[in-house]
Amino acid sequence: MTAAPTPATLDQDAAAFLTQFHAERRRPGLDARLEAVRAQGFTPTAEELAFAARVAWRNSTRCVGRLPWAALDVHDLRGVTDPAEVAAHLIEHLHGAFAGGAIRPRISVFAPGVRVLNPQLIRYAAYPNADGTVTGDPVNLRLTAFLRSLGWAGGAGTPFDVLPIAIQSGRRTELFELPADAVHEVPITHPDYPGIGALGVKWHALPVISDMDLNVGGVRLACAFNGWYVQTEIAARNLADADRYDLLPRVAAALGLDTRRERTLWRDRALVELNVAVLESFAAAGVKVVDHHTVTRQFTRFEAREARAGRGVRGRWSWLIPPVSPATTPVWHRAYDDREDTPNFERVPAPWDAPVRVGCPFH
Ligand code: ARG
Repeated sequence: MTAAPTPATLDQDAAAFLTQFHAERRRPGLDARLEAVRAQGFTPTAEELAFAARVAWRNSTRCVGRLPWAALDVHDLRGVTDPAEVAAHLIEHLHGAFAGGAIRPRISVFAPGVRVLNPQLIRYAAYPNADGTVTGDPVNLRLTAFLRSLGWAGGAGTPFDVLPIAIQSGRRTELFELPADAVHEVPITHPDYPGIGALGVKWHALPVISDMDLNVGGVRLACAFNGWYVQTEIAARNLADADRYDLLPRVAAALGLDTRRERTLWRDRALVELNVAVLESFAAAGVKVVDHHTVTRQFTRFEAREARAGRGVRGRWSWLIPPVSPATTPVWHRAYDDREDTPNFERVPAPWDAPVRVGCPFH
């Protein structure tokens, strides 16, 4: 006598996702699809994956730039597992997303087991100096040390050395240098203050997040995705934060401001001119960027559109408001429900973010 086959259980996350996909896309065949998933398990189809990636962006509570979510260009790389081939596809991602400066939001989705270990495809190295200062972007100290432990010899030693990317596939991890023509950068100058240009600062055109998984109905896939920058991300945080490039004192000096007394508001004046410099420099270079007034207004249009579609918008207010003049933007005056919806992107801890152990060289 043979035992009756146990009926496979239907994964509830997969079922909820498929129900949403078929309802929102008005697709027939939900019952047959659920039956197939019950029998064989859930592997998203290319169409389900594309829908999930776009809705994950729509659901990203920290993102103020969600208005164009439906135009996300989805590249299904689940057939690619060789690290060198993954690297080649990511370099193509950089070229295609840059689009001569027009910047197109794009996502590359990897097979299970494939992952980029860098938090973004383009990151600047951090070199600790003997006097305790850091050359480069201090936020990448541990990333740089990690890449060195994988065999990276180090770069030229400038404050803007682009790091190689570490690609993991199964048990292999390999390093790849990004070709210079894949990394477009904008030199930062100011139309009225040549002293700001004399600082020799630049930033890369594309933010490509690579440390978040796309959660599709409980299936978590590593991915890399980009939009375009809001200038505040560069000018009010990356270049200005005291634990990043810390440029406000040098910008204030370039503007001839009195930095001995806080009440001159030299920090604020330097900050505003640095924001102007980034916006004008990107415009002069023909690279798409958005200012915080425009993007927050676009966000209110996104909210209105979502309401018309019968959906709510969730958000994390502290991330949606810009770090410069927040109360001049419409988002300041609104309140948001910060609960997370699926599909969504979920941050994956970095290998060097392991729990703190006494004697760990990275802590
Ligand atoms: N804030 C991050 C950075 O400065 C980028 C985050 C994503 N930003 C975006 N505009 N898509 O690099």
